Amino acid sequence: MKKTYTGVRGTSDFIPGQANLFNHIATTSRRIFKTFAYEEIILPILEEEGVFSRGVGATSDIVEKQMFKIARRSEEVTDDIVLRPEGTAQVVRFYLENSLFKQSDFHKFFYIGPMFRGERPQKGRLRQFHHIGSEAIGSDSPAIDAEMISLAMTILDAVGVTQKKLKINSLGCAPDKEKFALALKEALAKRKNELCPDCQRRIEKNPLRVLDCKQETCRAIVASLHPGQSHLCQSCKKKFDDVCRLLSDLGVTYVHDPYLVRGLDYYTNTVFEITSSSLGTQDAIGAGGRYNNLISALGGPEIPAIGFALGFERIMLALGEQEKKEAIDVFVATLGEAAVNEGFKLLQKLRSERIACDTDYCSKSLKGQLRYAEKKGAQFVIIIGEEELKEGSVVLKNMNASTQEKIKNEELIVGLKNQMRL
Ligand code: HAM
Repeated sequence: MKKTYTGVRGTSDFIPGQANLFNHIATTSRRIFKTFAYEEIILPILEEEGVFSRGVGATSDIVEKQMFKIARRSEEVTDDIVLRPEGTAQVVRFYLENSLFKQSDFHKFFYIGPMFRGERPQKGRLRQFHHIGSEAIGSDSPAIDAEMISLAMTILDAVGVTQKKLKINSLGCAPDKEKFALALKEALAKRKNELCPDCQRRIEKNPLRVLDCKQETCRAIVASLHPGQSHLCQSCKKKFDDVCRLLSDLGVTYVHDPYLVRGLDYYTNTVFEITSSSLGTQDAIGAGGRYNNLISALGGPEIPAIGFALGFERIMLALGEQEKKEAIDVFVATLGEAAVNEGFKLLQKLRSERIACDTDYCSKSLKGQLRYAEKKGAQFVIIIGEEELKEGSVVLKNMNASTQEKIKNEELIVGLKNQMRL
């Protein structure tokens, strides 16, 4: 027996109904991005490692533990090549490489595509997954924060994710964040021994990440900390109040979650996360925030920016794994070899009229062909037998109305289109 293969752990195949749902979500998102005036970009899956180790942060999980590295292929490339784990640092690389800040002081982009993280797979957590991502670069206005958040919520509403919760917080500017981290470090140091080994390390390297830990014991300690907003300077506090006010003006419902910090190091000021109770432990459908220092960290000027990414697979889970069946318009059933040839030519004619159609390629009986047509959701079946061949006609069966009629070949397309319009 020859070995058969299974898909790589942490990857998923989309069967046709799921692929249709995927495309429906992508099309709906593209339509909404257009109304918000965001432009689509398509960037490669491969990037140099430094884009993420410098951009996302060396102590973040996705860089420290989850990067898929590809062996360096040439001496000219100094960094390792990796499969991109996220889109934000990549968009900044693209923005800087093309000096887009010289062309215009403000850009709004979106992207749809696969991301890769070497995580321990579980429901809703994959090694290859897909993002619908959005980045607005060049403005520090609270209005763009509110727009970005409402854009994410609008997409989720439009694709049918009704049960969701929006949490927002502000980390403040870099000095505020440092103050926050220092206060946390002091508070956590007192209970260091009770924390998980990862968090014990995080206290030193990146104490904010402890707030993000999913371990029960760490969560209980974190819950007793009551972080508040005392780390925010006056200007950052006002900005956050403005974002909250604007969201209320837009009718976006949110909760302020002082524990929300996010796992990627580039965030400053506004951070947000959208969760769905229908998802289990991996409950974030999407998340984002400001990254006002990322562009300079990657060698560019000081330019503020904000963005988000929605997880395709988690949206699909939240929609209850519903599939979207794509029905055909017409099935051409044939009886006898001559009819098969005639039917095959008819398919081309129907397709040139943009009528979605199919036929039998497996020599099924008429009964079998009709059963298959039903399975394909065909609205009409055209039957060609010996008699019809002689007469230059076909039988047109309307499956919804359960009617059938003989129709001359030259009248078929018009007759069919008339019935399709009803
Ligand atoms: P993130 O929170 O790492 O943010 O990912 C965004 C969303 O992607 C998550 O909320 C989740 O729905 C989905 N996701 C993440 N990891 C996985 C996984 N292993 N399997 C399935 N789905 C997953 C970012 O990546 C930032 N770049 C978002 C952003 C854009 N911030 C500013 N601009």
